[in-house]
Amino acid sequence: MRNNLAYDAGWSLLSRIGNTPLLALRKMTSDMPGTRIYAKAECFNPGGSVKDRAASKIIEDAEKQGLLGNGRILLDASSGNTAIAYAMICAVKGYRCRLVIPRNVAREKIEMLTAYGADLVLSDPLEGTDGAQRLARKMSEEEPELYFYADQYNNDSNWRAHYEGTAVEIVSQTRGHFDYFVAGVGTGGTFTGVSRYLREVFPEIKRVSVEPDGPFHGLEGLKRMDASIRPGIYDDTLADMHVDVTTEEAQGAVRRLARQEGLLVGPSSGAAVVACLKIAREHGGGSFVTVFPDGGQKYLGEKFWEVKE
Ligand SMILES: Cc1ncc(COP(=O)(O)O)c(C=O)c1O
Repeated sequence: MRNNLAYDAGWSLLSRIGNTPLLALRKMTSDMPGTRIYAKAECFNPGGSVKDRAASKIIEDAEKQGLLGNGRILLDASSGNTAIAYAMICAVKGYRCRLVIPRNVAREKIEMLTAYGADLVLSDPLEGTDGAQRLARKMSEEEPELYFYADQYNNDSNWRAHYEGTAVEIVSQTRGHFDYFVAGVGTGGTFTGVSRYLREVFPEIKRVSVEPDGPFHGLEGLKRMDASIRPGIYDDTLADMHVDVTTEEAQGAVRRLARQEGLLVGPSSGAAVVACLKIAREHGGGSFVTVFPDGGQKYLGEKFWEVKE
């Protein structure tokens, strides 16, 4: 076909990572005058989550250093979203990837990874992502020539993706006119990268980290730091404030987001909005920018959607 308007599929897909919309959640705050909440809707990334950003930078930086190619397999541990991002990007670029994920992550994530053709290693569900991380490290130590161990928990490319991407987008979408930046912490990449940039350009904006209230929780993607292997890239000294959120609070918020705002997002997005609302109630309002890491489709098998308010 001559003069056609088709784009190369892979190039087009990867060029759509980032530049996600910033959504104003007006209904969630309609009874709270003086409170405004804006969320970066990361479900608009082609792999469906914020982790497309970290995975693509990790892979690009590894390519520049010659760590990929020559049949080397990308290896990492993940709670699912980074794995999906790696699987998508590796499919585009023709790399093999082997991903270690806890056996109990949402079934839909495992189905997506299988659909993308990734090699999966399922780790002990009782050990969570810490167990997946230990197993991935052991595999890379046993066969260092076979693998590029991407190690998202300790790879600076992870937080840099947010320092150079997410944070710059937030500043251009708001011109820095907000009081609090709020982010849940898994690897800490989003929180650390965005907070580092904001500290340089708008140090008066308060930076807030969000964690589940205990080690056993249903907030896939988030970590209770005092009960987990601490990610090397997470810099908690950047946090001015910290908020704990229960699984039930976050699930209630995702139902409200779906039913009042028409936004189908995952439980960690619910945790982010709960944290904003808690601070607003405590401090008499404020304007908030947060990150909604993924959409709700991967969690539709969970019972909490059935609750009618
Ligand atoms: C659903 C979800 N929420 C939040 C996060 C946390 O993001 P970060 O790893 O940048 O701290 C992740 C990370 O995997 C995630 O998958």
